[in-house]
Amino acid sequence: MSAAANESNIEYIDWNNAFETLRKAYQLGIFVLIIGPKGTGKTTLVRKFASEINKQLSSVNFSLRTRESHLIGTNTIDNGQINFVNGILVHSMTQGDMLYLDELNAAEPDVLLRLDEALDDRRQIVLKEFHGQTIKANQDWFVIGTINPLSHVGTKELPPQILSRFPIRIMLDYPPEETELEIIRKHVNLGSASVEDSIRSAIKLASNLRRAASLEEIFYSPSLRETIAYSKLVATGTNAKVAAEIVFANVYHQWGEVEYRKVMDIIASIFI
Ligand SMILES: Nc1ncnc2c1ncn2[C@@H]1O[C@H](COP(=O)(O)OP(=O)(O)OP(=O)(O)O)[C@@H](O)[C@H]1O
Ligand SMILES: [Mg+2]
Repeated sequence: MSAAANESNIEYIDWNNAFETLRKAYQLGIFVLIIGPKGTGKTTLVRKFASEINKQLSSVNFSLRTRESHLIGTNTIDNGQINFVNGILVHSMTQGDMLYLDELNAAEPDVLLRLDEALDDRRQIVLKEFHGQTIKANQDWFVIGTINPLSHVGTKELPPQILSRFPIRIMLDYPPEETELEIIRKHVNLGSASVEDSIRSAIKLASNLRRAASLEEIFYSPSLRETIAYSKLVATGTNAKVAAEIVFANVYHQWGEVEYRKVMDIIASIFI
């Protein structure tokens, strides 16, 4: 079994006080949008919250290929009889589950239109696919969406009427450096002081690269996934500088030698 199988047991550090906002929103039945760059813990936060309040989670990870039928459902024929099999949206509405709409701003307009209908104050949807039947949401139904900022590849602007369906918004950015170290501690057994020192340096490197990416000086911004992967490598004996090249520098080869060199120069100044 690989070490990754333990991810669900890892404690979530609620450094942003997001749980309190989510709890309140759930009590009030107001839908929530989480906005933040990749790898800042959005999905983990939603999963932990669902398990804390003991709620079944149904997830949709949107892409250009997500079809209406995936959300609404499809007709099937069994022994000459036509049956309707609920899609994820309809299923979660009827069950009163928590629906997680991940990367909403990658969805196509026709898909958003159907969501728009279900998410408005009436919380119901008309199944044009099945005799115009109206599905009303169970009163425990709760919806959380996430979007990446528009600088991310493949993201589009979410139409204002969809945004307004999620009037409570949580911004989840990269954590402060000390917090990032605490998060890493939940994933990796740091062991010696020298390992911890090199992880602190890697966090500093990551935050420099994030800043440079936000100023569009470089093409890629490392996430918590990178700092966690780096820490796992050095905690199991990989040399600090070698690990930094593997995790932080090599990705820039995608944009050519010049980009890669820029990052390697920074690494060389930090790791001897
Ligand atoms: N506050 C935290 N406490 C513990 N682990 C965290 C925390 N935040 C992030 N992580 C870890 O960081 C990694 C990335 O988190 P996650 O997949 O939830 O990010 P995301 O924002 O959903 O990313 P994406 O936008 O790419 O989907 C995971 O391994 C997760 O466990
Ligand atoms: Mg995610």
